[in-house]
Amino acid sequence: MPKPQKHVFVCTQNRAEGHPRGSCAQKGCAEVMNEFMNQIQANNLFDKIGLTNTGCMGPCMLGASVLVYPEGVMYGQVKKEDVKTIIDEHLLGDQPVERLIVPAEVW
Ligand code: FES
Repeated sequence: MPKPQKHVFVCTQNRAEGHPRGSCAQKGCAEVMNEFMNQIQANNLFDKIGLTNTGCMGPCMLGASVLVYPEGVMYGQVKKEDVKTIIDEHLLGDQPVERLIVPAEVW
């Protein structure tokens, strides 16, 4: 398997209902993860894009959280509908999706 050009980390952390930090699991991260997998598979992008689910990455209040390397761009409040845009514009087009970027102070 070749080294991917981009690596996407999707937070799939879950926490008990009522936890003060909430979690990405309560904000639709499973749908986001599935959509990345489906899109990567449907477009045969496994040689370009790595995909990994992770635990908490920090900005829980802005979940679902998605982190893209090598740039180190953190996206917040990502919905299933945003996945195609992230793939097309950032992962394939090298232009991060500004409207979804989490400010560095929130990390
Ligand atoms: S639970 Fe997803 S960033 Fe904390």
